Amino acid sequence: MKPIILVLGASGQIGTELTQKLRILHGDKNVIASDIRKANNEMLSSGPFEIIDATDKETILKIVKKYKINQVYLLAAMLSATAEKMPQKAWNLNMNSLLAVLDLAKEKHIEKIYWPSSIAVFGPTTPQKNTPQKTVMEPSTVYGISKVAGEYWCNYYHQKYDVDVRSLRYPGIISWKTKPGGGTTDYAVDIYYKAIEESKYECFLSENTRLPMMFMNDAVDATIQLMEADVNDVKIRTGYNLAAIDFTPKEIAEEIKKHIPDFKITYKPDFRQEIADSWPSSIDDSEARKDWNWQHQFDLKLMTENIIKNLQKENI
Ligand code: SER
Repeated sequence: MKPIILVLGASGQIGTELTQKLRILHGDKNVIASDIRKANNEMLSSGPFEIIDATDKETILKIVKKYKINQVYLLAAMLSATAEKMPQKAWNLNMNSLLAVLDLAKEKHIEKIYWPSSIAVFGPTTPQKNTPQKTVMEPSTVYGISKVAGEYWCNYYHQKYDVDVRSLRYPGIISWKTKPGGGTTDYAVDIYYKAIEESKYECFLSENTRLPMMFMNDAVDATIQLMEADVNDVKIRTGYNLAAIDFTPKEIAEEIKKHIPDFKITYKPDFRQEIADSWPSSIDDSEARKDWNWQHQFDLKLMTENIIKNLQKENI
């Protein structure tokens, strides 16, 4: 059946670029963007937009019926650093939105769901290097707890009710079009903006904190590739490990200096250091590469060239 798609959380970091790509692939009017806040002009002018609270099942159902939607990408969520400050609110948003959408699929209102998981499912007791798909998951953050619980809800709805829900454990996602908000990996986005604007950046993680990361273009491609994969090739219904690159603040700063020679980085770790220290430094995503042929395109060098070129163009 032809996909008619609802994106919940379309104004966010991933939602903005995913919506654009889905509209190119499936036609502007077949991709309904939605968020709790108003969209930017580009999104409003390129296709339908609705204000939706992602935890409000009745409103989602109304919009699903209005547009005859059959697929939902649920991207509304509170990220790791903000969630530590508002644990109850984060839990409510991250869990209730997922359960609302899973129920709509169970009740046959929609056919397919995408829901993002994260490297935050892992914790201090997880093997940190090349973290395997199946390993210890004892997250120490509220965000991580909500992602582990969410993964098992997805698996449960798939097993019990045959719900076609698919999920990726995103690493830190780096973009230049829309900034993320409230995440621990956000430094790797902020650093580019500050490098262009001020030639300096004070990093909230220490210089040798290695984390798994990915350029937005790869994240969007992986997401769409998983959603378009043949149902028989989707063998994991919790969340797939997904990887591209990994680096430290020092290494990304060195790469930026190749373009902006006077760029200076200083380090002032805050509460986010502990969160970063509890996460893997690299991820083994061989299951995704085997099951649905995942391949990333961007390394640190290519990503840095792309981001700096685009941000410099915007600043002119
Ligand atoms: N990028 C997210 C965060 O830092 C992890 O999924 O919270």
